[in-house]
Amino acid sequence: MEIEEKKEKKAVDYPEVFLEQMESFMQLMMKYRCALMEVETKLHVLNEEFAMQHNRNPFEAIKSRIKTPASIIEKLKRKGYDFTIESIEENLFDIAGIRVICSFQDDIYSIAKMLTSQDDIILLQEKDYIKNPKPNGYRSLHLILDIPIFLAKEKKHMKVEVQFRTIAMDFWASLEHKLKYKKNIENPESVMIELKECADVICATDQKMQSIRDTIEKSMT
Ligand code: GTP
Ligand code: MG
Repeated sequence: MEIEEKKEKKAVDYPEVFLEQMESFMQLMMKYRCALMEVETKLHVLNEEFAMQHNRNPFEAIKSRIKTPASIIEKLKRKGYDFTIESIEENLFDIAGIRVICSFQDDIYSIAKMLTSQDDIILLQEKDYIKNPKPNGYRSLHLILDIPIFLAKEKKHMKVEVQFRTIAMDFWASLEHKLKYKKNIENPESVMIELKECADVICATDQKMQSIRDTIEKSMT
């Protein structure tokens, strides 16, 4: 999921089949927007309750986005999928994306658990890049959820990607993301090594902050 992709302004050649299906495409995107709203509301509800019980908010921010048509076409092409509405629904799991930015690592797991145990949500896929960081140092918890939306004449199951990160991991990922799109960087290998070192320091700091928080909270009870 690229929250950053909002900024892109590329001219696209829309494949002919895409134009023929424009109406259905717009309808599908509307359904993804509805699914985003459903998941966002669930997160806000959990935040409210958690804040009342624990006297602090479990997350700092939620960002959401719908994948742009340009980005959808690029991904279908890159992965060799058909340019059809059905193919988008079947093959792309990140059309609707939400990023939840938390203060602490353990809050990530608490909220994820609370969300996925709700009985209208099905967890389709989980990638835990916090327990198993990517070789470059990337850390986040990625979930693909199935959630129903209720329209005038149908109940439809939609897929939503939710990424959970700490503030520090998000800070790191934004900078690392820039590296991917910049060409002509001097010494890209050493930048990668430095970024990996930062990712490890950030993770250690996240864990230290969590244990300081525990100490403070214990002394308050
Ligand atoms: P995509 O084809 O990009 O969707 O990859 P994938 O289906 O294998 O999914 P994965 O869960 O690995 O990554 C999905 C999204 O997570 C990406 O679109 C990014 O938003 C984010 N992400 C994954 N890896 C990295 C990384 O190394 N750096 C940064 N900055 N973001 C990443
Ligand atoms: Mg993906």
